Amino acid sequence: MTRNDERLNPILHHPAQPKDGTAGIERPLALLDHIAEDPRPLLELVNRPIVSARQFDRATLAQIFRLAAQFETTPSLVQAPLSGKILISAFYEPSTRTRLSFESAWHRLGGDIMSITDRGSTGIAKGETLYDIGEMFNNYGDVVVLRDNADSSVYEMLDGLRIPIVNAGNGVDEHPTQALADLYAIFKWRPELLADEVAPEQRIRIGVVGVPNRMRTVRSLLLLLSRYAPAIDEVVVFSRDEGIFDEGQREELQEHGLSIRTCEELEPELPGLDVVYINAIAWVGDSFETHGMHYALSAASPLKPGAIILHPLARGDELAVDLDATPHNWYFAQARGAVFVRMALLTSLVNRIGQVMDAPAQSLL
Ligand code: CP
Repeated sequence: MTRNDERLNPILHHPAQPKDGTAGIERPLALLDHIAEDPRPLLELVNRPIVSARQFDRATLAQIFRLAAQFETTPSLVQAPLSGKILISAFYEPSTRTRLSFESAWHRLGGDIMSITDRGSTGIAKGETLYDIGEMFNNYGDVVVLRDNADSSVYEMLDGLRIPIVNAGNGVDEHPTQALADLYAIFKWRPELLADEVAPEQRIRIGVVGVPNRMRTVRSLLLLLSRYAPAIDEVVVFSRDEGIFDEGQREELQEHGLSIRTCEELEPELPGLDVVYINAIAWVGDSFETHGMHYALSAASPLKPGAIILHPLARGDELAVDLDATPHNWYFAQARGAVFVRMALLTSLVNRIGQVMDAPAQSLL
């Protein structure tokens, strides 16, 4: 068979094993061992809007991660607990992962979906307000997931809603469920970090390549990391720019005990970082900005052995594909885990956790 034949027969030549380096090293069962089941924090989420990572405390996060790990390890949990429920998936801005993982989560839970991917196909094209659209959504569905390029949109729609809304990214403000997926990956990698007290030698150093006040993913991630300050020696934010924090943003994180340092040069710091979170794209208005293109990771980067790389994706040149086949690649696991985290959150919002908790965990691995 010639090389050209191989190109024309990609299925024939698709590798039997996953290309990424995470096969076999994700450990949702290990995470289950570290969290005792307690449905009470999830019951407090029933019918609640989810707009900011600020809303989550450690008890709630632990139970979301526990339920996500159960979904990931126990197929028998998925007995259509959302049967009869309708998700309104309104994405007024491009998305690959967030929309499809929310919709995948809802489908896997047995619910039905109405999906809007073009604001021009709704009354917005005629000047209808998000408040009025929210009022209509009350009649049509049970949960709204909204992505919009304006920071204010989720709040405008919230005013008219009596069903829960989940912020799937509002301008440069927040992306709370992405941050849930980020932490779920970190705790699968190192479940001992969930403990109230973490021994000094177990604490981690996290590098963040991104702009906290221009990237919603980074803003929400830092907020959730601040809940786990005792497990984190330091967060190092890499930037060559001034003004990367909004007024009060850094102080809020530090008030929770998170140690934050800014640094211009990435490469000399890499050997000391346990987690490297990298992102270069911020969606702003109707287009995107790229930031920090002088920072890039590849298989040749001086990463600490055992360090993991996270990236919310979509990636650009900052993350070389030659990292995909290395054990540093946890960004694919991070994206995959988002489905289970969203399943846990959605099941809680519509008060169906009674149908999925107390099931025995069985490994799929
Ligand atoms: N991580 C993330 O938000 O990706 P999408 O823009 O594809 O949803």
